[in-house]
Amino acid sequence: MKCCYKSLPVLWVLFQGVLAGPWSAWMPEHMSAFEGTCVVIPCRFNYPDELRPSAVHGIWYFNSPYPKNYPPVVYKSRTNIVHESFVGRSRLLGELNFRNCTLQLSRLSPELTGKYYFRGDLGGYNQYTYPQHCNLEIINKPTIVTPPEIVEGSEVELSCIVPDNCPEMKPIITWTNYEGLAEHSIYARVEEESSTWSLTSLLKFMPSRENDGREVGCKVTYTNTTFEFDGSSTLDVKFPPRIVQANASVEVLQGSQIMLVCSVDSSPTALISWLREDKVLQEDVGGNLTLYLDNITYLEDGIYTCITENIYGSDNHSLALSVLYAPWKPVVNSSVVAVEGEPVTILCSSQSNPEPMITITKDKKPMAMGVYQNQVALEFESVTHEDDGEYWCTAENQFGQSSTPFNLTIEFPPLILPDSRCTAARDTVKCICAAKSNPEAVITFELPTRNITVNETDREFVYSQKTGYIVTSILTLQREVDSQLYIVCAARNLYGAKNQQLQFHHSNSLMWAKVGPVGAVVAFAILIAVVCYVSQTRKKKNMNESSSFMQTENPPVVYSGDYRTPGNPEKSEYGRCDKRLLNKRDDLGIDYANIDFTKLSTKDSYTLTEELAEYAEIRVK
Ligand SMILES: *[C@@H]1O[C@H](CO)[C@@H](O)[C@H](O)[C@H]1NC(C)=O
Ligand SMILES: *[C@@H]1O[C@H](CO)[C@@H](O)[C@H](O)[C@H]1NC(C)=O
Ligand SMILES: *[C@@H]1O[C@H](CO)[C@@H](O)[C@H](O)[C@H]1NC(C)=O
Ligand SMILES: *[C@@H]1O[C@H](CO)[C@@H](O)[C@H](O)[C@H]1NC(C)=O
Ligand SMILES: *[C@@H]1O[C@H](CO)[C@@H](O)[C@H](O)[C@H]1NC(C)=O
Ligand SMILES: *[C@@H]1O[C@H](CO)[C@@H](O)[C@H](O)[C@H]1NC(C)=O
Ligand SMILES: *[C@@H]1O[C@H](CO)[C@@H](O)[C@H](O)[C@H]1NC(C)=O
Ligand SMILES: *[C@@H]1O[C@H](CO)[C@@H](O)[C@H](O)[C@H]1NC(C)=O
Ligand SMILES: *[C@@H]1O[C@H](CO)[C@@H](O)[C@H](O)[C@H]1NC(C)=O
Ligand SMILES: *[C@@H]1O[C@H](CO)[C@@H](O)[C@H](O)[C@H]1NC(C)=O
Repeated sequence: MKCCYKSLPVLWVLFQGVLAGPWSAWMPEHMSAFEGTCVVIPCRFNYPDELRPSAVHGIWYFNSPYPKNYPPVVYKSRTNIVHESFVGRSRLLGELNFRNCTLQLSRLSPELTGKYYFRGDLGGYNQYTYPQHCNLEIINKPTIVTPPEIVEGSEVELSCIVPDNCPEMKPIITWTNYEGLAEHSIYARVEEESSTWSLTSLLKFMPSRENDGREVGCKVTYTNTTFEFDGSSTLDVKFPPRIVQANASVEVLQGSQIMLVCSVDSSPTALISWLREDKVLQEDVGGNLTLYLDNITYLEDGIYTCITENIYGSDNHSLALSVLYAPWKPVVNSSVVAVEGEPVTILCSSQSNPEPMITITKDKKPMAMGVYQNQVALEFESVTHEDDGEYWCTAENQFGQSSTPFNLTIEFPPLILPDSRCTAARDTVKCICAAKSNPEAVITFELPTRNITVNETDREFVYSQKTGYIVTSILTLQREVDSQLYIVCAARNLYGAKNQQLQFHHSNSLMWAKVGPVGAVVAFAILIAVVCYVSQTRKKKNMNESSSFMQTENPPVVYSGDYRTPGNPEKSEYGRCDKRLLNKRDDLGIDYANIDFTKLSTKDSYTLTEELAEYAEIRVK
């Protein structure tokens, strides 16, 4: 370029005073044309009017404006001599006399790509190469223009632009591989810019993520030729992420190891996160994200969410991870000490997945049960001392079981047990009083006739021993002649007191148990004899005696050794004792060893031997 401008000052110096108008030309700066077709380069030029040339000539040069460089001559109006590359290809369409230098180039080939300069030749020294020139590009592909961003769901327009500056060959544009694009439409328009023409075909459609990466083509053809030029453009569709694969809700065993995968389709690549209940566990940018969970515990149980996001949007997927485990050791939550008569509710709870079956048992007998619940209540409207004891709460599901023992402790007032009694031996009287209570009862023996009350502090007389809730006190007395002797056992704890007159029981009563079956047979024989005897004597007695042992209402001088005899001793408590009868017998000593079989008549003849013993009576002589 510098070369041609160097020449300008020379021209200006030569014609400075002569030339008034500007030396100028106009032609498009850039033009393109398809290989094999033609192009018309519109061109105008100007020169000072004062020159009034007799003839106007012109030359088109290729790639260089300056004749000194011997640039290839494209066209020369004075002669027909042109560079070999342009032979038969160049034609001046413009009328130079009308300052029209329009040039047509035909059968274009790639080597014709370059700069084209026009030089006016007005005779003599009035020759001038205009600096304005045209850059011609020989192409073989249409230009496809895509918008800077194609986003899913918003309409786009692609244009295929083709130069249209060859009057003999009109381009035809067709789109290829556009079938299936949503809502597509095509229309063409011709555009003019700086006297050059182009044909534009527009393809409008609604892009979807499935169109990402699709190659849309544009084809240029000319009627009656085999020329065909293809171009293509790969669609880069942006779209918000979508989770294409993720795990569904799962149940896993405690201690196991799992992985949760979340695969995402997005453009551009999205940020993927795994969350458990709002807490981010892992995140990364990519197409998928795997969350590994080792040694799963119930703490990992919950809702897991995969969230993915890019600038175009987000998506999420949630799943429930259910951790299966055996029941925890059951917990008994409640006071386990109660006072008899109170209502009691004991709650036993455990935790497992699936929910446990909880059973509360006592002595292997189920007392309360709940299926598929975390908690079971053992309820008593009113506890009795029999409810006292050890219970087990067991929770179980298919993965295991766990048990917790607990004690239900009932506090209750004393009960005097049936085996409380006095036994007279040859020279001692031994009284046993057994009381069941919680807390432990204090046992006192009262001898109203002797105005004495003794308890275990009198070690000489009383010995106590405790087994569970039973306190057994043994009173040992020297046997004395005391016809009125009767003994009351009193048991007391903070919930109450119980007094009971102790029945006398002959020590020989055990004899029958000791003699065994042989003895029993002997006894039975004796019994038969006795019954016969009694039936004989009774006939006489009934005639002359007013008092009879049969009269159980007032059994005189007799302590029944059996609490089951009429005049139930359970009811004959201290104070209700028949002192009146006892007092009548001041002259009598007690012979506990004497068995009076006469009393047996009160029973029928077939009374069993064991019962004989119990009906043995103490005869007061
Ligand atoms: C120059 O010549 C061409 C070809 O004849 C013609 O199409 C064009 O209109 C002319 N330009 C002007 C400015 O007259
Ligand atoms: C194409 O060729 C056919 C016959 O060969 C002719 O009739 C028609 O005019 C031609 N079209 C063009 C645009 O040259
Ligand atoms: C989650 O899905 C992946 C891929 O499908 C699979 O390999 C994996 O085992 C699944 N995880 C669970 C816990 O099912
Ligand atoms: C997950 O992504 C990685 C790279 O990001 C890839 O190598 C792998 O194949 C993908 N896995 C799946 C299951 O898509
Ligand atoms: C699994 O977790 C439990 C409780 O946290 C632990 O006692 C045990 O050692 C762990 N096992 C492994 C293999 O990590
Ligand atoms: C998950 O997606 C739904 C709609 O698909 C949306 O309402 C919700 O807020 C999203 N949750 C999160 C945690 O992003
Ligand atoms: C036992 O649990 C219940 C409810 O779970 C609670 O109201 C009560 O206070 C608990 N009792 C004890 C003794 O902890
Ligand atoms: C329940 O009582 C028994 C006997 O008193 C005792 O051996 C056991 O340890 C107690 N159990 C609990 C859970 O307190
Ligand atoms: C028993 O003691 C009371 C007072 O302690 C007394 O009044 C009563 O006379 C006494 N009775 C006998 C039989 O000693
Ligand atoms: C036993 O009797 C003595 C005197 O009779 C009395 O002081 C003591 O408190 C009694 N003990 C109990 C445990 O009742």
